[in-house]
Amino acid sequence: MSITALTRPLVTSLIEDAVTAPSMHNAQPWKFVCRTSTDVIELHGDPLRGMPAEDPDHRALHLGCGAALFGLRIGAAHRGRHAAVRLLPRPEDRWHFADVELHGPDDIDRDLLALHTALPRRHTSRFPFTEERIPSEVIDGLRAAALLEGCQLVVPGDWHTDSVLEIVHDSERFEAADAAVRAEIAAWTRTGAPGEGSETEGIPSYAFGPRQYDVTSPVRDFDSPRRVAERTSARFEKRPQIALLGTVDDNPRHWLMAGQALHRVLLRATLDGLSTSLMSQPLEWSELRSAIRDPASTTAFVHMVLRLGYGPQGRATPRRPVSEVLTFD
Ligand SMILES: Cc1cc2nc3c(=O)[nH]c(=O)nc-3n(C[C@H](O)[C@H](O)[C@H](O)COP(=O)(O)O)c2cc1C
Repeated sequence: MSITALTRPLVTSLIEDAVTAPSMHNAQPWKFVCRTSTDVIELHGDPLRGMPAEDPDHRALHLGCGAALFGLRIGAAHRGRHAAVRLLPRPEDRWHFADVELHGPDDIDRDLLALHTALPRRHTSRFPFTEERIPSEVIDGLRAAALLEGCQLVVPGDWHTDSVLEIVHDSERFEAADAAVRAEIAAWTRTGAPGEGSETEGIPSYAFGPRQYDVTSPVRDFDSPRRVAERTSARFEKRPQIALLGTVDDNPRHWLMAGQALHRVLLRATLDGLSTSLMSQPLEWSELRSAIRDPASTTAFVHMVLRLGYGPQGRATPRRPVSEVLTFD
C-alpha cells in the first residue's frame, strides 16, 4: 500500500466532488485543509455556519460534513485511489472532524466508484411524487447502503408513517411559534429580495417546490411566510414512502457516520431512479425527536427522515467555490 502524494489539481477535484453533498439549509458547513508536508486532507466543521436555534448541538452540522466526506471518498475511488479516513472529533478539538490519506491504486472500492455518476444528479426534490410503491429489493439495497456505513435505515409501516406525519405537523406548529427559528430559516433562504445573503449558499426559491394543498407528505415549507408570490400549489402523494436513518449511539462520531450513510443511501437511491427529499424538522425539537423512533426497531437515535419515491429529481442548488473551502498548507 502506497500513500499518494497530494497535488493541487487532485485535491481540488476531490473537494469539487465533496461539496456536492447535502447540508442543512445548504449552509455548507465544511472546511478542508490540505497538509502537503504529510499528504493529509483534514476535514473541519465550520461553527460559523451552524444553526444555533435549530441545531444547538451541531448534530446536523456534523451530518452535512459526514456527507461531504463521503463525496470525497467517492471522488478518490473515481481517481483510482482509496480514501483512508480517520474520524477524529474529540472534546478538546471538536471541529477537526477527520483526516484522510489517499492510498492505492490497488485497493479501490468498486461500490463507491459506481456511485460517482450519481453525485451531480442527486438533488433534494420538494415536488410531489407518484403513488408508485418502491420494490422491496430496492429498499433492501438502501438498507444495505446504510449498513455499510455502520448505520441503520428503518422503513416504518403504515401506522408509524402516520405517526411520523403527525409529529412533523407538531414540529411545523413549534416552528411557526418560534421567532428565532423563523429568522434563521429566513437568513438561509433566497427569494431574490434585497439584502439577502450570498447566492452561493442557502436554499433558492426554485428549490422550495410547490405548496401542499393539504399536507399529506413530510416536505418542509421554506416559504411559510408566503414571500414568493408566483409559487404554485399542488397535491402531494397521499401515501408517502419514508425511511428513518439512525445509529445506536448519539455522539459526534456517530453523527459523522450518519452523514456518510445518508449520502450513500441518497446516491444509491438516485442510481435506482428514485427522487428523494430530507426532513429534519421534527428532529430539531428534543421533545419530538424521541417519538420519531420506530418502537419496533433497534435503532436508538434517528438522524434523518428520508422521503423516497418517483417524481421530479429537483434542480441543482448553488455551492461555494472550492477556493473558499479549501486551503493548502
Ligand atoms: C442535516 C440536514 C438536514 C436537512 N433538513 C432538511 C429539511 O428539514 N427539509 C428539507 O426540505 N431539506 C432538508 N435538508 C436538505 C437540504 O436543504 C439540502 O441538502 C440543501 O438545500 C442542498 O440542496 P441539495 O440537497 O439539492 O443539493 C437537510 C439536509 C441535511 C444534511
